[in-house]
Amino acid sequence: MKVNTLNDFINRIPKAELHVHIEGTFEPELMFALAKRNDITLKYASVEELRKAYRFNNLQEFLDIYYEGANVLIQEQDFYDLTIAYLEKCRDENVVHTEMFFDPQTHTHRGIALETVISGIQNALDDAKKNWGITSCLIPNFLRHLSEDDAIKTFNEALEFRELFAGFGLDSSELGHPPAKFERLFRMVNDEGFRAVAHAGEEGPAQNVWDALQLLKVIRIDHGVRSVEDEVLLKELVQKQIPLTVCPLSNLKLKVVQKMEDLPLKTLLENNILATINSDDPAYFGGYINDNYKAVAEALDLGEKEMITLAENSFKASFLSQQEKEKWLKTIEKIYTDFY
Ligand code: ADE
Ligand code: ZN
Repeated sequence: MKVNTLNDFINRIPKAELHVHIEGTFEPELMFALAKRNDITLKYASVEELRKAYRFNNLQEFLDIYYEGANVLIQEQDFYDLTIAYLEKCRDENVVHTEMFFDPQTHTHRGIALETVISGIQNALDDAKKNWGITSCLIPNFLRHLSEDDAIKTFNEALEFRELFAGFGLDSSELGHPPAKFERLFRMVNDEGFRAVAHAGEEGPAQNVWDALQLLKVIRIDHGVRSVEDEVLLKELVQKQIPLTVCPLSNLKLKVVQKMEDLPLKTLLENNILATINSDDPAYFGGYINDNYKAVAEALDLGEKEMITLAENSFKASFLSQQEKEKWLKTIEKIYTDFY
């Protein structure tokens, strides 16, 4: 089948996105517009100059620029505009369900009220449901480069909005900030009845994935591509049905892999891991979800069957109800049978 046709096929399959940071969807054009509206001067003279800075050798180089960009978000309307722009992409790319991360501390540390952040994001999510039928949930992530005490304080503040959250996660610099640093916090998260997820095995070793599972009791791993370095861990992920939210273009841009052909997605699928495809921070990594599906299809020589499996996995690994999952799995099956 010609690439064009495979691209059309990818566009047509309904998909869930389980790993996207709303702050990472901040396109330079919108950043400049909001900077102007808020009377903030950016370090870069133009959109082109800012885009040129998007060359990263590792996760930390990206995070430094990403946190700087977030400084432009001040008013509730800013968070609304940011979120609705991402949701328009979802509508256009047939993402019918999204589980969205945001970083409360990135904003509260700058004096922005948690309520401002959450209201802006949630109003956009509600509008996307009403206008386009896109379902969603929110997952606040704690910044692992800050202290556990700071995260606990943030968690306690977030409890005021608890009914809006599907769970809590852990992101930011993995190296030097292992899961063990947040054991007490995640005990609280689990005791309060929330789902727990964590970034692990992105830049850090497979041991971080073990620790996220055993110490933090997470039920889904974000990234986790370095799990392939540990065969026993792969068996554990299958046995415990722990999904991985893989982010191909992110892994390439942050040099987790040197080339897309090195992404161990085939190994994960061959080992029956519930691997999914996600965009992570699409404004910084050069593509939204369909570009990520296309990039792996091309580099790893995957076809319609694997695209279907990955889309199915995205629903199976989601926090949707069993009934919703079955509805989307049936829709995908119909697309596949109509195709052949
Ligand atoms: N925050 C935003 N994107 C991230 C990533 N890929 N890893 C860790 N923290 C992040
Ligand atoms: Zn991420």
